[in-house]
Parts: sequence; structure tokens; C-alpha cells
Amino acid sequence: MPKIKKGKLLIDQHDKNGFWGGKFGGNFIPETLKKPVDDLEILFRKLRKDKNFIKERDYYFKNWVGSPTPFIKLENLSEHLGGAQIWAKVVSEANGGAHKIYNATVHCLIAKKAGKKYIVGDTGAGYAGKMLSMAAKKFGLKCKIFMGAKDIKRQKPNCDAMKKNGAQIVPVYTGSQTLVDAVSECMRYWVANCDTTHMCVGSTVGPNIFVKICGWSTSQISRELSIQIKAKFGKIPKKLKLLNCVGGGSSSFGFWNEFMHYDKKQVEFIGVEAGGPKNSKKHAAPLTYGSKIGILHGAAQYVNQSKEGQIEETESISAGLDYPGVSPLHCYLKDTKRARYTSATDEEALNAYKLVTSLESISPSLEPSHAFAEVIKIAPRLSKDTVCCVNSCGDSYKDKDIIKSRLGKYIR
Ligand SMILES: Cc1ncc(COP(=O)(O)O)c(C=O)c1O
Repeated sequence: MPKIKKGKLLIDQHDKNGFWGGKFGGNFIPETLKKPVDDLEILFRKLRKDKNFIKERDYYFKNWVGSPTPFIKLENLSEHLGGAQIWAKVVSEANGGAHKIYNATVHCLIAKKAGKKYIVGDTGAGYAGKMLSMAAKKFGLKCKIFMGAKDIKRQKPNCDAMKKNGAQIVPVYTGSQTLVDAVSECMRYWVANCDTTHMCVGSTVGPNIFVKICGWSTSQISRELSIQIKAKFGKIPKKLKLLNCVGGGSSSFGFWNEFMHYDKKQVEFIGVEAGGPKNSKKHAAPLTYGSKIGILHGAAQYVNQSKEGQIEETESISAGLDYPGVSPLHCYLKDTKRARYTSATDEEALNAYKLVTSLESISPSLEPSHAFAEVIKIAPRLSKDTVCCVNSCGDSYKDKDIIKSRLGKYIR
């Protein structure tokens, strides 16, 4: 079984060809992208060691993103379920309402250093697009967002925000008209415009360098959490479980990174994918259902596919999790058994949303509601000294129409 090395960031534990565990990730890119990807790699290698760049990043994380986000105990939910203590890292309190702000901010800072005036990105739930439009506005870049036509319809509040920030939304009508098609179309656009334009991939997916930049950026979440947990408990508890939804995998990777070196018996990582509607065969859970390795968006990964190797359509109530593949980092975490992956159905996520909002003052979007569904399942069986922490990585306002149509009303 492959092993995670201690003392080296997981984002850097790939071989010289960009593969984690010798088989996940890599750079499956057209010849024309070789130079822009190499240039970006060289620039990022330099910037991440540059004290001034780190200072700038930390300045904007603190004074613009609003770090650190709260770490709170969900006392009513804990009492209601019995068993483990349930805590939440309320990342939805970050500027814009979700974790996508970290990656977007870093990409805009890099684009500025690269002398680019234009930036493009993909989005599913609309948060990656909203955050990129916010950061582009802040740093003076012209911004284009690729988004599936189905997602434009179901995530209207985030589309309104992108427009307000001056970004152009490019609707994608191909395929399932969701995130997978938006990423493909965005990459196609970048191939033709890479001389003037920087590309921000919205999750820990894509060619190796995009996985690294995104993972490096969202790791801010666990940097904060580790400090907050130590301040609250005096040390890292003996039994800590970190639960996070997994789409492309950027929030979960960022939530876990600082805890990677702990034994999994002490700090367990639980990733929750989108199981789709209860009575449907379609899902967006390649890790849970043992999908085979394939190539998607420039990287090798476990991906939902047909017998012939064609990428299969997914279905999920949550636009942000509705993606057939998953980060090579998570494929590696699965193979090394460092993380455990499971899924929640649409109905379970909705029920979790209902329970959490009825008992607590937070209002998680449908993506983190999948992680809450899992904590609701496991907490009653766990001891009182077990600390379960859920990354509440997005705010529900973007899902108000879906929630209203499914539950009769939108309750925050
Ligand atoms: C709030 C929220 N959570 C989770 C996700 C899933 O993406 P990732 O797994 O990269 O965090 C998204 C994607 O759009 C999102 O908007």
C-alpha cells in the first residue's frame, strides 16, 4: 500500500511527472498548454517561497476574506443526537459565503504577478465564480466565468453576484450542462487565450499545478482550525473526526491538510460525496462506489465512467458536488486509507439541512449538508469525548429556490 510521508506537504508528494502514488494526477494537456503550464509552475514555485508574497496573501486572507472563520460548538444538535460532541468550522462566514474565496484570491494575486489582465474560471454551485468575480474586481482583472446552463438556472443568487461584480458569465450548453462541462469549456478557452489570460480551476482538480495551487490556498482552513482546536481543548483531542463534503475536493483537502501527520485513529478524515437521489442509479460519488481510474480535465483519477471508458453523467441536488471525478489528492488519500469516503443521498442532505437549521443558528448550503447527514448518522454511536467537527463550507442562500421547492419553504 502507498504511504504518506511525514514532514512533506501532500501537495508536493508527487513524482517528477506529477503523479501522486504513481498513478493519480499528472499533466494530460495539449502541446499548446505545455509552456503556459510550465511557466505557471515556475512562478508558483518562486512565489510560495517569497516572504513578501506570503505576507500579501496573509494580509488579504485576514483583512479581506475575514480569517479566521468561527469554530463553534453545536450544542443543541449534540444534545439532540446524543453521543459525540458536534462542532462546526463556519467557513461560510468568510467573505462571499464559502471556501472558494481562498483559491480565487491566490489565483488573482498570481495573475497579477504574471502580468495578466484577464482571468477565467469554472463554476458549478456558483461560489467559485462568485469568488473569482469578487477577487478580480478587487485586484483589477477582467473576468469570465464558464457555467453550465443547468447550474445557471439552479444557482441564481450566485449568478446575480457575478454579474454585479462585473464578470461575464458564459453559459455552457454541452453535455449535462453542469460543472464537468463548464471546466472543459473553460480549459478550451484557455488553450486559445493563454497568452493574455490566467486560468483559475475552481477545485483541487485539473493538471498538477492547479491541484497544488488550490490545495495550498484552501489549507488556510486547517491552519486556523488547528490553532482554534488547541486553544479550546489545550491539545488535539484523542478522538477527533473531521467531516467534509467532497466534490472536486478543495474544501475537504484544505480542512484536513494540517492534520495529515496525525494517526488516523486519533484524527479521522471522513469525506462525504453526493449519492444523488435515493431512487436513481446516478450519483457523483466515484470514491464511495469504487469507480475506475480514468482521465478527466488533464488528470488521472477515479471517475464515473461507462464500460467503454466514457465519462458518465451524474445527478445531485447539490450543484457543487455534481461532478463525475475527484481530486487526485483524494484518490491518493483513499488508496493510502488515510481518509474514509462515504456518500449521502439528496434526501439525507435535505433532512440534515432541516435538522441543523431548526436547532442551530448556522445555515449550511446543500454541499456541507451532505457532511452533516453523515455526522447525524454516526454521532449517536460515539462516546462523549469524541469531537466531530464539520466544515460548514457554504451558505444556503444560493440554494433557496431548490430548498423552497423541496421543503415548501426556505428556512434559514
Ligand atoms: C459550498 C461548497 N461546498 C463544497 C463544494 C464542493 O467543492 P470542493 O469539493 O472542491 O470543496 C462546492 C463547490 O462548488 C461549494 O460551493
